[in-house]
Amino acid sequence: MTLEFSGSTALVTGATAGIGRGVALRLAALGAEVVVHGRDPERGARVVAEAGAAGGRARFVSADLSDPGDVLRLAEAAGAVDVLVNNAGIYRFAGTPDTTAEMFDVHMAVNARAPLLLVGALVPGMAARGRGAVVGVSTLAASSPTRGAAAYGASKAALELMTRVWADEFGARGVRVNAVAAGPVHTPGTAEIGGDVLATVARNTVLGRVAEVDEVVEAIVFLASDRAGYITGAVLDVFGGRPAIG
Ligand SMILES: NC(=O)c1ccc[n+]([C@@H]2O[C@H](COP(=O)([O-])OP(=O)(O)OC[C@H]3O[C@@H](n4cnc5c(N)ncnc54)[C@H](OP(=O)(O)O)[C@@H]3O)[C@@H](O)[C@H]2O)c1
Repeated sequence: MTLEFSGSTALVTGATAGIGRGVALRLAALGAEVVVHGRDPERGARVVAEAGAAGGRARFVSADLSDPGDVLRLAEAAGAVDVLVNNAGIYRFAGTPDTTAEMFDVHMAVNARAPLLLVGALVPGMAARGRGAVVGVSTLAASSPTRGAAAYGASKAALELMTRVWADEFGARGVRVNAVAAGPVHTPGTAEIGGDVLATVARNTVLGRVAEVDEVVEAIVFLASDRAGYITGAVLDVFGGRPAIG
């Protein structure tokens, strides 16, 4: 049986948990051969086993994306891919006086520099083969001022801007580059920061609720697919709507 992603290979960063795990499992179920990336080998092995149990093909590669050498090693280990999902990300909330240089730097390193290095290492191959899709995972906090999220929002705003640059840089050679700006989503990461932050963000959306992982996965997989063949340089809002003033 031919599935939508049959014959394609995909690298999904941060695929050991949350949104990335959901994307990896969906792509594997749709026929892609998936490189599941994360840091934690136990979590990675579980996702690989889940993908296999559902009839998909996956393997795990570990790398710490705050280390540029490790990012390049990941790209090398992934090899030629048709789909790159820059999902891995960190979000730590603090007021500006409590935002240290280390905290700012690690947000920029994981959320912006790692995607840049992966695009630089993997997308020229896609362009040479004449096809490929890149999807970044951004946030509502990149475009709406969000309390305590100066460093986080800035790192994702950088990702959104680079998305548009990459779309221009590689579009003529058959590679589409887009992003999804997610709102509050129930994931292991947000469970750790506690329900208050999620509930506060959810109150500031039109739909007024927290999203489930699958609702964001759906949008990412769509942008990675040929169904989105005429879409590039777009940031798709998947955050429950921005309320009007008044
Ligand atoms: N959840 C939300 O409400 C929400 C909203 C908007 C945007 N987003 C964005 O969506 C993405 C996924 O969020 P999530 O909530 O699903 O995440 P999560 O549950 O916290 O999982 C994070 C994933 O990223 C990996 N990761 C984190 N730091 C890493 C590092 N330094 N090196 C390598 N891998 C690293 C983790 O791997 P290990 O566990 O193996 O270390 C894990 O697979 C992020 O980019 C986030 O900013 C999330």
